[in-house]
Amino acid sequence: MKYTLITGASMGIGKDIAKYNASLKRNVLLISLPNENLRKLAKEIVSEYGVKVDYKECDLTLNDTPKSIYEWVKSNNYKVDFLINNAGFGGVEVFKDTPYALNNSMIDLNVKAIVNLCHVFIEELEQNQPSFILNTSSMAANFPFPYKTVYGASKSFVKNFTIALSKEVKDLGISVSVVQPGATPTNTVVKDQIELGGTFSKISLYSSEYTAKLAVDQALKKKLIIVPGAKNKLFLRIMKLMPFRMQQNMLANKTKLMFDKINER
Ligand SMILES: NC(=O)c1ccc[n+]([C@@H]2O[C@H](COP(=O)([O-])OP(=O)(O)OC[C@H]3O[C@@H](n4cnc5c(N)ncnc54)[C@H](OP(=O)(O)O)[C@@H]3O)[C@@H](O)[C@H]2O)c1
Repeated sequence: MKYTLITGASMGIGKDIAKYNASLKRNVLLISLPNENLRKLAKEIVSEYGVKVDYKECDLTLNDTPKSIYEWVKSNNYKVDFLINNAGFGGVEVFKDTPYALNNSMIDLNVKAIVNLCHVFIEELEQNQPSFILNTSSMAANFPFPYKTVYGASKSFVKNFTIALSKEVKDLGISVSVVQPGATPTNTVVKDQIELGGTFSKISLYSSEYTAKLAVDQALKKKLIIVPGAKNKLFLRIMKLMPFRMQQNMLANKTKLMFDKINER
């Protein structure tokens, strides 16, 4: 029996991705940190959609977690044909003042966990072809992003890694896609950023449900780069037309202003 494995499935975009997969009658494996109600969510999905669901609570910032997820999948004889690397986090920070541990866990989760999960699951996905990988990047991946310095760079990594990987594994029957969400009101950190981030972030909002459905549909249609919504596509075009120095000054000024407002609260 085939399964979609989703990281960061307890809330936000990942939860909506899990529910949308189930609505397509795909069985789902849910991954997120311990004590975040995965058991309850798994029960809800079973009763609402009648698919098979299992879950594993683990910390993806730990080096051995991708291997332990793979071993759990094999020991239960689940066959994964869709790997969705959604777990990730960001924030607005002044790099000089960012705690050492925060930078490291951001890189561990946003970058290392994705590389390692793709790596340990490649053979499994090849065996279960046609198979799919969907990695979650961000609109912030498209340009160096002052005051989201590590986050933006981590998401650029995910985008470039995914594009390169898609070429390498195409002949193994694996289609690889990357989704670049813009502002999506999920957790309180993101909601604060949207509220304080000026007009564009307010008008360019898309819901988590919309982003989840679009990402899954387009990944299953083998689209390589998925940018949710016309407003995000327009924003990207404008940013690319802008002289680089002007673009960087604008991003730095607006994001620093947002940082100051968040810290005044
Ligand atoms: N929301 C946006 O505006 C936006 C924009 C662009 C890109 N994105 C990207 O989209 C993805 C989902 O974002 P979101 O806003 O939906 O996030 P979210 O609501 O904060 O949910 C994050 C999910 O990741 C899980 N997670 C966090 N740290 C983990 C860890 N160490 N190990 C295992 N699981 C962990 C969380 O599990 P727990 O519940 O157990 O903590 C949760 O299920 C992220 O990669 C994010 O960078 C979001």
